[in-house]
Amino acid sequence: MGERFRLPKLGVAMVMSVRKAPALPLIFLLMIHRVSSADWGVSYSHSNICALKNSSVIMSCTYTYPTGYQIMKVFWTNTKEKKAKYEEFPDLSEDPAYSQRLQYLGDEQQNCTIRLSHVTHKDSHMYYFRFTTNVTEGKWVGNPGVSLTVTDLQVESPERVTEGDSVRLTCKSSCTLTDRATFIWYRNSQPLTERRDTNNQLLLQSVRTEDAGRYSCALHGHTFISPDVHLSVTYAPKSVSVSINGSAEIVEGDSVTLICSSDSNPPALNFSWFKENQSSAVGSGQSFSVLQSGRFYCEAHNQNGSQRSDAVTVTVPHRSSWRVVFGVTVACGALVILIIILFVIKKQRCQSEDLRVKQTVNCRPPEDSYTTHEDPSLSV
Ligand SMILES: *[C@@H]1O[C@H](CO)[C@@H](O)[C@H](O)[C@H]1NC(C)=O
Ligand SMILES: *[C@@H]1O[C@H](CO)[C@@H](O)[C@H](O)[C@H]1NC(C)=O
Ligand SMILES: *[C@@H]1O[C@H](CO)[C@@H](O)[C@H](O)[C@H]1NC(C)=O
Ligand SMILES: *[C@@H]1O[C@H](CO)[C@@H](O)[C@H](O)[C@H]1NC(C)=O
Ligand SMILES: *[C@@H]1O[C@H](CO)[C@@H](O)[C@H](O)[C@H]1NC(C)=O
Ligand SMILES: *[C@@H]1O[C@H](CO)[C@@H](O)[C@H](O)[C@H]1NC(C)=O
Repeated sequence: MGERFRLPKLGVAMVMSVRKAPALPLIFLLMIHRVSSADWGVSYSHSNICALKNSSVIMSCTYTYPTGYQIMKVFWTNTKEKKAKYEEFPDLSEDPAYSQRLQYLGDEQQNCTIRLSHVTHKDSHMYYFRFTTNVTEGKWVGNPGVSLTVTDLQVESPERVTEGDSVRLTCKSSCTLTDRATFIWYRNSQPLTERRDTNNQLLLQSVRTEDAGRYSCALHGHTFISPDVHLSVTYAPKSVSVSINGSAEIVEGDSVTLICSSDSNPPALNFSWFKENQSSAVGSGQSFSVLQSGRFYCEAHNQNGSQRSDAVTVTVPHRSSWRVVFGVTVACGALVILIIILFVIKKQRCQSEDLRVKQTVNCRPPEDSYTTHEDPSLSV
């Protein structure tokens, strides 16, 4: 706004102070000053600007002043109130926080456009254009100024979606972006080429497992990218299968362990085991010990549903099987042969002429047996 001053010296300069100087004799002022206050002014094409972090902001601005003045200084400031009466407003181009990023695009006649680049959240405040002339009272600050709000982008998305459902992801900014920009979406840092978005929303219809991933969004032509948001796709168990743990060599008397595996999200933790042609489950848990032969299948469950596997045939050997019979037969046969061999060796040694050999073997006296049973001539 215009400045207060002690007494009217220059008519034109007084006009700009009218609104702030109610104590002055208003009628008197209007009578002697024909110049309209519209001759002093600053206008901005946007009074509210919403800009994306790290982007460049252009504050378009024009200003007017009556003829008979010479512009001395044009600059932008961040306050409409001076700290002290005789102090000038702070010039942002002399502020180290702005000097490197501020570029005056206007002129010293009427254009006061400025560009501020690499905006940060700290830049979110009011901006005012200020100009001074060769006349002490001929100064102006363009109030109300330009309000700048710097925003970042955030993806809004549910944490998880069930396969086949639809989901809408939103690229959120804290204010409505002034520049009508095109949104770009990324999944796992790769731009999504399929254009499935409207405004700042990405619609995923009939979600597939491939749609799971880290999503982020950006604005076309801007460097800022939102943080990632993870979208998980849940689904009922798929590819449910049964495998036999360990080797296929089943040792007699052992049980067979079957393992149920599936692809599911959230992971299936509930498994049921069935024997074909039996309605009730024969077991539960991811692994199952089969003690009898048959055809078995498993069913994997999670919060989104269940699926069953194909059946596998399991043959468990019995104790009474031919293997056992064969083994026992072989063992008995071997024992019999051994006994026969031992008996033959003993007999041979007893018939030997060598008395020492005979003594090592516990032979029965041959005379008796021969007299009693084998030599008929002696018995008579
Ligand atoms: C200000 O500049 C204008 C234009 O150059 C000139 O006509 C006027 O006399 C100057 N006023 C003062 C007070 O120096
Ligand atoms: C002011 O200057 C800027 C930058 O040179 C230009 O883009 C803009 O059109 C000008 N505005 C007017 C009203 O002349
Ligand atoms: C900010 O923008 C510049 C280019 O304008 C780019 O080089 C830089 O990486 C950006 N910084 C961030 C944090 O995005
Ligand atoms: C599979 O067998 C191995 C040994 O052969 C055992 O350590 C493992 O615990 C078994 N896994 C299941 C799920 O039973
Ligand atoms: C496993 O799933 C079956 C079938 O849906 C259900 O009856 C049972 O209660 C579940 N068990 C657990 C521990 O969730
Ligand atoms: C699928 O499971 C997830 C995780 O438990 C759950 O949030 C979701 O509601 C389930 N969807 C359906 C359709 O049951």
